Amino acid sequence: MITKIMNSPVGQMISTWRMSEEGLRLGNQILQENDNLGEAIVRAVKCVEDDPAYVSVGYGGLPNREGQVELDAAYMDGDTLGTGAVISVKNLKNPIEAAYRLSKKNRSCILAGDGAMKYASYEGLAYQNMLTESSRKRYEEELKVSKQEEIRAYEGHDTVCVIGRSREGSMACGVSTSGLYMKEPGRVGDSPLIGSGFYADSEAGAAAATGMGEDIMKGCLSFSIVEKMRNGMNVQEACEKALREHWRRLERRGYPNNGMSVIAMDTQGNTGAATTLEEFPFVVAGENGCRLYVASMDQETGEHFLFVPDKEWIKNSKSD
Ligand code: GLY
Repeated sequence: MITKIMNSPVGQMISTWRMSEEGLRLGNQILQENDNLGEAIVRAVKCVEDDPAYVSVGYGGLPNREGQVELDAAYMDGDTLGTGAVISVKNLKNPIEAAYRLSKKNRSCILAGDGAMKYASYEGLAYQNMLTESSRKRYEEELKVSKQEEIRAYEGHDTVCVIGRSREGSMACGVSTSGLYMKEPGRVGDSPLIGSGFYADSEAGAAAATGMGEDIMKGCLSFSIVEKMRNGMNVQEACEKALREHWRRLERRGYPNNGMSVIAMDTQGNTGAATTLEEFPFVVAGENGCRLYVASMDQETGEHFLFVPDKEWIKNSKSD
């Protein structure tokens, strides 16, 4: 029995998937103690990047078709609109750290491949082989069976996205992913693309997306949510409306539902989330600690709702 919640949760941070729970707890601690938003978001994302158990982000991420882990990350400061991103980086321990530093620059702030790695080296950021033994084995098994057309979004988890708001009302957002498993080398998803995978504007709100990047970017989904909030729409309604409109747009062109989920926060710290999946877990943190929620879309009616998962749900859920 699922109990739907009627009011969107309020907090200072919100993040995608259960895998972000520990990171958000650490980030929220920083935010509560010293109100340092950048440090809080980077800490939260790093925690997921460093954990080899999560195969869609950072260390232990599943590789591309050539067996290499290619990572994308971005950071946007909602006060300055400063944005940094690294695209298709290999062997960089914490891509979010590079994206965060780049967000403070005005030029050459979105870097891909070798250029991004040169920047990371210049900044003295740590390198690491990001392919774990378990990801390598899974890749070798997959090579025996997979065809390019069969590539799908990860089931149950994907990009880690973290949105935060300081007590003074500054907003920011950080995202990190290894992208699609078995992707073509050099493939770029929504995550490092401003307006698609993330957007933050302290005057309007912030939003971020997770799911099939090629679908998300066709609707500049995160920007579209923030614009709805700028025009006065409630954060939960903005998430649901932007996602529904975009999904219908894709449907009319014959695209299947590959799974897209979004989180958002308005300038007051009210949070929202929506998904085209049956279940999309997300975490909200604030003065009273962290709490896991689930967004859901009824696959027949398209109705969206949020609920607080009980112990039974947590035990049985396969989703990260
Ligand atoms: N949403 C992550 C990607 O498509 O790469």
